[in-house]
Amino acid sequence: SDLIAYAAALPKAELHLHIEGSLEPELLFKLGKRNNIDLPFKSVDEIRAAYEFSNLQDFLDIYYQGMSVLRTEEDFFDLTMAYLNRARADNVRHAEIFFDPQGHTERGVPFDVAISGISTALDMAKVQFGMTTKLIMCFLRHLPEEDAFETLKQAENWLDRIEAVGLDSSEVGHPPSKFERVFKAARERDLKLVAHAGEEGPPEYVYEALDLLRIDRLDHGNRSLEDTVLVERLVKEEMTLTVCPLSNLKLCVVNDIKNHPLKRMLELGLRATVNSDDPSYFGGYMNDNFKAVIEALDLTREDIKTLAKNSFAGSFLSDGEKRAQI
Ligand code: ADE
Ligand code: ZN
Repeated sequence: SDLIAYAAALPKAELHLHIEGSLEPELLFKLGKRNNIDLPFKSVDEIRAAYEFSNLQDFLDIYYQGMSVLRTEEDFFDLTMAYLNRARADNVRHAEIFFDPQGHTERGVPFDVAISGISTALDMAKVQFGMTTKLIMCFLRHLPEEDAFETLKQAENWLDRIEAVGLDSSEVGHPPSKFERVFKAARERDLKLVAHAGEEGPPEYVYEALDLLRIDRLDHGNRSLEDTVLVERLVKEEMTLTVCPLSNLKLCVVNDIKNHPLKRMLELGLRATVNSDDPSYFGGYMNDNFKAVIEALDLTREDIKTLAKNSFAGSFLSDGEKRAQI
């Protein structure tokens, strides 16, 4: 329809994208070959067929397995460049990209290898197509806080390339409070702070992310809607929520895209944004996510415009850079 084309053409920012989750089966295969890694799949179709999840953990098991083909700086460069090209085709003008260093250092791939490959691609996207980016280093919450501190130490020489720290992986059983000290250390290094909360975890985890981690932005946040006091607070604080519609569908955070809370979030006055999370695993990039919610939730032209505006407003661009985009 007209509205889908309208959304596709709008300049947008992507604020919730795990670079390892943009690894397409074709590239996974290619890198597996290049690095002589034995894969449990014989074809691209076999890989795609394995992407059926009933919850977050189901997905994470496959996601960590998939990233095992990433070994060299060139692998990280190719991965990042593929995403940036694909995002650009969807008129994503600015991207704030997560990476999971512990998913690599745990397998013996040095922190420096991952971040230098990613950074080279980010620099190239700026020069080649004027796309701006920020890098967000996530801590894996299923691992001890001590490991997150070690990761922050490895990042010490790269702080000029890292905008923020985030918190991802298995949510339930690993509340934000577990990472209060390492987030304080990150804050003292002038890093911005974000965290996944309220994806599968209860509203209490969102409160902890706000009060203990002192986040600047909330990743997902869906379950905040169960608590009206919390919603009022998020509205009042103009907290940005990085919502991921197709991810929520594939991970059974919602049972049907028609029941996705995005429209309700906008009606409540929350600063919601649309994002692709792990596009290769969840069936779509930025514009696929817009298309899904436009069709399912009867979004208006005004809603779509608000979502695009929110994406820049909620970014970590400077006020001047935001004005230039909106
Ligand atoms: N890592 C990659 N994608 C994630 C998600 N949606 N939630 C938690 N951890 C993740
Ligand atoms: Zn995510």
